[in-house]
Amino acid sequence: MKLKRKKIIKIAIDSPAAAGAGTLAKAISKYYNLFYLDTGKIYRLIAYLKLKFPSKFNLSFLRKRIKKLKIKDLENKSLISDKVGLEASIISKNTSIRKLVHSFQINCAYNPPKKYYGSCLDGRDITYKIIPDAEFKFFITANIKTRALRRFNELKKLKKKIDYKEVLKSIKKRDKSDYNRKISPLKRTKDSVLINTTNLTKKACFLKIKKIIDKELQK
Ligand code: C5P
Repeated sequence: MKLKRKKIIKIAIDSPAAAGAGTLAKAISKYYNLFYLDTGKIYRLIAYLKLKFPSKFNLSFLRKRIKKLKIKDLENKSLISDKVGLEASIISKNTSIRKLVHSFQINCAYNPPKKYYGSCLDGRDITYKIIPDAEFKFFITANIKTRALRRFNELKKLKKKIDYKEVLKSIKKRDKSDYNRKISPLKRTKDSVLINTTNLTKKACFLKIKKIIDKELQK
């Protein structure tokens, strides 16, 4: 779809773990030529650094790493594991850590590279903290068993030794932490469109979101 880059369009997505938001956000970004940022990967990278370099891990170490952060650093396959995900939900409760990554995220959202018509970010606090003035806001969810099964299949595909019950337990733990924490909790804002992906195919979800965006863009 061709848009004009007079004014960029910004899409903000929040969702609990493994609801399918990443897959959808990527497809939508590709279709509308938007710069895509999976903000969870930044928290995962920090969690990974904490697990890998426990003795070096402090704010000044992190500050230096975040300053040099490149999108390709987020493609590291080690970030995908459940162990890293769970650790990410712990370190993401830290106010100083969140402050460190906010400006990176805001810059991606408001100043995407010139070749893009805008940006699309997904995470937990995108709709109300990172891009409160986004043109489009979505809250993507699915029931917990569906999410755990999807996550289990994804990890199995990557040849990770994993047990479904362990995945379910880890997602429950992350939900509890992400929804209930004091700082930047996961929540659906009033102006976010709810997309429940439990009984929808990827294509059906994509088309649902596309319909909403196209309707607005044609105004
Ligand atoms: O999205 P993903 O599951 O990869 O995120 C990993 C963890 O990072 C989440 O469980 C959440 O605690 C944290 N996170 C966050 N804010 C975001 C994105 C992710 O706190 N914007």
